[in-house]
Amino acid sequence: MSNLDTYGIDESVIAHLTEVYQDRGLESIMGDEDKIESMLRGIAFSKGLIHAPARIQHIIQLLSYVGFGPGKTMVDWGVGYGPVLAVGKIMGGEVSGPEAHCQTAMVALQKFQELRRRGVPTPPDSSIKIGADIMEYDISNADVVWLYAMAKQQPKFVQRFYNFGKSDGKLIVYRPSLECYQTVLKFTQRATFEGSIHDVAMILNKN
Ligand SMILES: C[S@@+](CC[C@H](N)C(=O)[O-])C[C@H]1O[C@@H](n2cnc3c(N)ncnc32)[C@H](O)[C@@H]1O
Repeated sequence: MSNLDTYGIDESVIAHLTEVYQDRGLESIMGDEDKIESMLRGIAFSKGLIHAPARIQHIIQLLSYVGFGPGKTMVDWGVGYGPVLAVGKIMGGEVSGPEAHCQTAMVALQKFQELRRRGVPTPPDSSIKIGADIMEYDISNADVVWLYAMAKQQPKFVQRFYNFGKSDGKLIVYRPSLECYQTVLKFTQRATFEGSIHDVAMILNKN
């Protein structure tokens, strides 16, 4: 981590987060020629061929960029193993989110437990709404909504943000798809496209 900005977060905490949420994206495809070929063609994420949680450094960077911290509320739309909620809690904000798959949520809770064992503060287990659906989850009070979803699913979620998000809320779309960009263009009169950070995310304003 020494050459990366930690945005005020203790380096030992980042080391714990990185170990607990190891990025196994590439590791999981080593030796599988078909998967490597798919990845080279850039469709690995959209087809769900590899499991790759958002990178801890990216989460820190993006949440810092949108000014997330004490007094702010964030919803992670599809909690997964929980890295975004974990980072948001460490940054001092209120975090919660739905996770449709029970088994995935169980892994998230185990990871929270492991972080606590290491002395890292975590969100309460109740911050993960197990079995809840993104399309029904209330975001009307969320200053920040985080979205990391399959390419084809992104448009309906982006649309939901514009329809039901907080008036001054922001949506971070991690690894935005072409379909996502196309949907955003439909809302250009109401949306401000702030730009991307290192090509990994799009940040949208409701107004
Ligand atoms: C790519 S993972 C992202 C995990 C985490 N937010 C991150 O950024 O690393 C997407 C997660 O969203 C969940 N998910 C997908 N569709 C959902 C839905 N309609 N409602 C709730 N969760 C959903 C999946 O089960 C998966 O765990």
